[in-house]
Amino acid sequence: MTTLIRGIGELFTNDPTWGDRFGIIHGAAVEESDGVITWVGLDSDPEATAREAAADEVIDAYGQAIIPAFVDSHTHIAFAGDRADEFAARMRGEKYAAGGIRSTVAATRAATDDQLRANLVVAMEELANHGTATVEIKSGYGLDVETEARLCRLAKEFTDEVTFLGAHVVPAEYAGREDDYVELVCTEMLAACAPYAKWIDVFCETGAFTVEQSRRVLQAGIAAGLRPRIHASQLQAGEGVALAVELGAASVDHGTYLTDSDIELLAASDTVVTVLPGVEFSTKHPYPNARDLIDRGITVAISTDCNPGSSYTASMAFCIALAVREMGMTPAEAVWAATAGGARALRRDDVGVIRPGAQALFTALSAPSHIHLAYRPGTHLTTPLFF
Ligand code: NIG
Ligand code: FE
Repeated sequence: MTTLIRGIGELFTNDPTWGDRFGIIHGAAVEESDGVITWVGLDSDPEATAREAAADEVIDAYGQAIIPAFVDSHTHIAFAGDRADEFAARMRGEKYAAGGIRSTVAATRAATDDQLRANLVVAMEELANHGTATVEIKSGYGLDVETEARLCRLAKEFTDEVTFLGAHVVPAEYAGREDDYVELVCTEMLAACAPYAKWIDVFCETGAFTVEQSRRVLQAGIAAGLRPRIHASQLQAGEGVALAVELGAASVDHGTYLTDSDIELLAASDTVVTVLPGVEFSTKHPYPNARDLIDRGITVAISTDCNPGSSYTASMAFCIALAVREMGMTPAEAVWAATAGGARALRRDDVGVIRPGAQALFTALSAPSHIHLAYRPGTHLTTPLFF
């Protein structure tokens, strides 16, 4: 089955063949066949007309913009329960703390597979409606062997990008025995989860895991064949970034409180910084300076961090608008970060880009340019075009 999309007012390819790294083509056409992009070109090229004659289906974009479907490299959508009251309390001045995670753990442990699967279906539909086709899903609301393995198994039904985050926080029953919990994560829990997971993650933060505990968790995951990524410097500066760079982590996520030495280490590495503007919005922490990171040559990705505690949104467009308004990114940099940047954070080159050979995962905008994603915040502009 071959589809040709014509009349694209602005095609945001992320393919440097078309000029700079954003690869924006005005007046474009794109062809896909069985889910793979087979041709990208100018709509005025006679080739477009020749391909139209051979296509099974032709779609007219009526001058609107098309971008690569978003790549959300950081979500925690495998959960049950609700923490709206916690959000309301924060808006009254209470502080966000890692311990809130435990309330989602109680609800998640009590949920059946069918309930958790139904929640995942809803979240994945929300993400797709907001233009996201590639989704990373973390475990981390089970914190016992059985529930963590359930979460990884269920997540794997929805994505190949499953992350084992047994080291999210120490569960209440291990209070005062933190190292025993780390031992469990690194042995029995890892063994039960690794068959479903691709990534190992740890929340390296005061109130969660120390840098020594985090190193143990990541090294155990690596030894089991998983690839490292980390939650670091979300609530205060710490040593998590240095650990991530040392271990060659694909991404450091949050980076709300990066130090100068963190930034130097990151600039000399290929570790991506994944910023999560929904978290600063929802926790009232200060937004990190993505402008500075980009100017220092660091690859920046944007993700939603969709989770019931610190950032309950599936809208990448909302996160793009925040990154532009609050983190110093241009609209083009923010779209790149939410597509190609997310792909880099997952070490993928087949998504987040519109070029022949890549997956035919597009997001059509009800707008003539990508700028509208930040210019018209809160307006639903995205339509998934996933082949
Ligand atoms: O990425 N930082 C740790 N984990 C999540 C929050 C989880 C929660 O509050 O439930 C995050 O922000
Ligand atoms: Fe997170």
